[in-house]
Amino acid sequence: KVLVLDFGAQYAQLIARRVREHHVFSEIVPSSITSEQIEAIAPRAIILSGGPKSVNVEGAPRIDERIYSLGIPILGICYGAQLISHDLGGVVSKRASGEYGKVNLEVINRQLLLEDVPEKSVVWMSHFDAVTELPPNFQLLASTPEAPCAAFADPTAKIYALQFHPEVEHSEYGYRVFDNFLHKIVGAEPSWTNYSIIEDSINRIRSQVGNSHVICALSGGVDSSVAAALVHRAIGDQLHCVYVDTGLMRHGESKTVEATFREQFEIDLLSIDASDKFFSHLEGVTDPEAKRKIIGEDFIRTFEAAAKDISGAKFLVQGTLYPDVIESGTKSAARIKSHHNVGGLPEDMDFELVEPLRELFKDEVRAIGEELGLPEAIVWRQPFPGPGLAVRIVGEVTRERVEIVRAADRIVGEEVLRADLDKKALWQSFAVLADIRSVGVMGDERSYAYPIILRAVESSDAMTADWARLPYELLERISSRIVAEVQGVNRVVYDITSKPPATIEWE
Ligand code: XMP
Repeated sequence: KVLVLDFGAQYAQLIARRVREHHVFSEIVPSSITSEQIEAIAPRAIILSGGPKSVNVEGAPRIDERIYSLGIPILGICYGAQLISHDLGGVVSKRASGEYGKVNLEVINRQLLLEDVPEKSVVWMSHFDAVTELPPNFQLLASTPEAPCAAFADPTAKIYALQFHPEVEHSEYGYRVFDNFLHKIVGAEPSWTNYSIIEDSINRIRSQVGNSHVICALSGGVDSSVAAALVHRAIGDQLHCVYVDTGLMRHGESKTVEATFREQFEIDLLSIDASDKFFSHLEGVTDPEAKRKIIGEDFIRTFEAAAKDISGAKFLVQGTLYPDVIESGTKSAARIKSHHNVGGLPEDMDFELVEPLRELFKDEVRAIGEELGLPEAIVWRQPFPGPGLAVRIVGEVTRERVEIVRAADRIVGEEVLRADLDKKALWQSFAVLADIRSVGVMGDERSYAYPIILRAVESSDAMTADWARLPYELLERISSRIVAEVQGVNRVVYDITSKPPATIEWE
């Protein structure tokens, strides 16, 4: 495996993903890791990521310098490159101007790391400081106008450094650079494939659970679905899935889940229609946090009751992903909303966790889902909040109002699918029902009805999001269909706020 040392900021995750795209397993570790700890892990290579600080300021993160002499190949990127220079006797200085964005790179020495990279190409830069003098024994490989040492290396010590960001798509030959480093310099086997991930998971799940029975709370979302399919591949009939229909699901969701898991995969699936309970507890409730609490608790109670009937189950499947694992170790961000995950069951439930996706990024989970034969409707499903459509209804949640937002949401989904937009760029697109009414005219009749708020955002991780510039024709089709087909709606408006300052959902 390859270790990516994280200096803060978000660079490390993208680097780790790129390494995996070259079929080499990578793991992110804090930059404070010691030389002994690294020796115990025995990685094939170490990558030092970018970071937000200047190496010359007090308190800038450092690494255990003994790491340089372990004989393990090292690649420093951006901050990592400056750190290598700083630690090994070069000079890093502040320049008159930094470089941000696309910059022309001139390759001076094409050996090894920059093999097959043309003499001139475009790379992505983001730096103010630059290495101005190489450490002893290092050779210059490439430069840019404001980074005289944009790439340098000591091939004997197997230490390589890049001021630019090969992990960013805008670096034209970034892919080649990773390929050279991982396969030509390090000689890592391309063994991290969908097939190997599935095989490894199956073995691990089997040895963890033995003959015991396992429960999975299935939500119909990508993560719990892939986790369930994977665990089922490993232990078959020992897996029991529970799907709670809260009455707050999207159109067709409950059916897809049943058809996929019960009929296609022949998994033991208990599907519970608990909508009466949810609706009666939500009666008269308008406060967003109160709604979330009620739904979260009802969900847990329903699930607990179902779990009791599955006698002898000792394990619970959770669809935890790698970014959650990394973040829970490092983040203490303020709670903006109390998120309810179907996986987020209380700790006092007496189960040991099975988390087969703990090491995977979302795109890997999707690839595994496709490999396991899950339908596209599940694998490419947009993220959906645990409390469901309830947080897309401003004001009271009633069966009638859920019907309205569900019908509108279905139209949004159908039209967006038909418009064939890039499914990776569009993070979410959905309808929200407001609790105000406005006057309209339909035929000769005056109407006084609810507006639907259309929300569509682009994002890569939901932490920040930009409102999507959907084509006007698409907006027009969505608007006219919703007003024509959904009873109780006479107006469609488009939310053009980014996150921050807004959030993606309305509640
Ligand atoms: P916000 O609205 O906070 O949402 O910008 C960020 C992302 O999280 C989803 N979301 C939830 N997911 N349980 C979940 O599992 C929740 O309670 C919840 N609330 C919001 C939201 O759809 C978006 O993708």
